Amino acid sequence: MKYHIKLSQEMLKGTETAILPGDPGRVEKTAKYIDPNAIFLASNREYTSWLAQSNNKSILVCSTGIGGPSLSIAVDELAALGIKNFLRIGTTGAIQPYIEIPSMIITTGAVRLDGASKHYAPIEYPAVADLELSNLLVESTKKNNIPYYTGITASSDTFYPGQERYDTFSKYVIKDFQGSLKEWQQLNVLNFEMESSTLFTMANAYGLKAACISAVIVNRATSEKPDDSILAQSEENLAKVIKTALGN
Ligand code: URA
Repeated sequence: MKYHIKLSQEMLKGTETAILPGDPGRVEKTAKYIDPNAIFLASNREYTSWLAQSNNKSILVCSTGIGGPSLSIAVDELAALGIKNFLRIGTTGAIQPYIEIPSMIITTGAVRLDGASKHYAPIEYPAVADLELSNLLVESTKKNNIPYYTGITASSDTFYPGQERYDTFSKYVIKDFQGSLKEWQQLNVLNFEMESSTLFTMANAYGLKAACISAVIVNRATSEKPDDSILAQSEENLAKVIKTALGN
């Protein structure tokens, strides 16, 4: 039994694929979208797990919480239980003005603005997605007629200063991040999120596969605040893409 996720090898029924939302509240819905008979496995802290069946294969849906540190615990423990393919589904803030809402971003590589990935590989090591898993996400996004973009994501430890948000208690962003949004735009970075750099660094360092698809819920070129009214549709779009990617 793994310490944080409270899962054992027997519970996973030989599955090698995990779908990783950040939010524990999205796990049941995603699992049942894939398989209406999905079963609850465990819940501890930010880690909630359900097991679904797809094409006669077991698929784990396990939440990671927000950010690199909590995701690293889930990925480490899941890898030890035999998970080889990690598909992250999440939400994101686009930073390029041409990216519309709703749309999807499939991250091909991440700027390592996190701290956790540095505990797994030095900063020179690239945080890149698995090509085959990413292509699978591209194809299933296309099949669902959802607009999408592929490219580089800035993956930050913080939602506020690391993503240069000023709508905070202090209204202050430290010098390191002042002007960073404009610079990432200039460098053709597509979006901000908080998990892909840790996920990709770990997966590559461990010889495993990972990909990340994010639903755009705000465009930072025009707004600092995500739009809650888009969340339900984003969740459904992500579940649709995953279901298609799993071949059902
Ligand atoms: N997640 C993030 O990390 N940033 C956003 O702007 C939206 C979702």
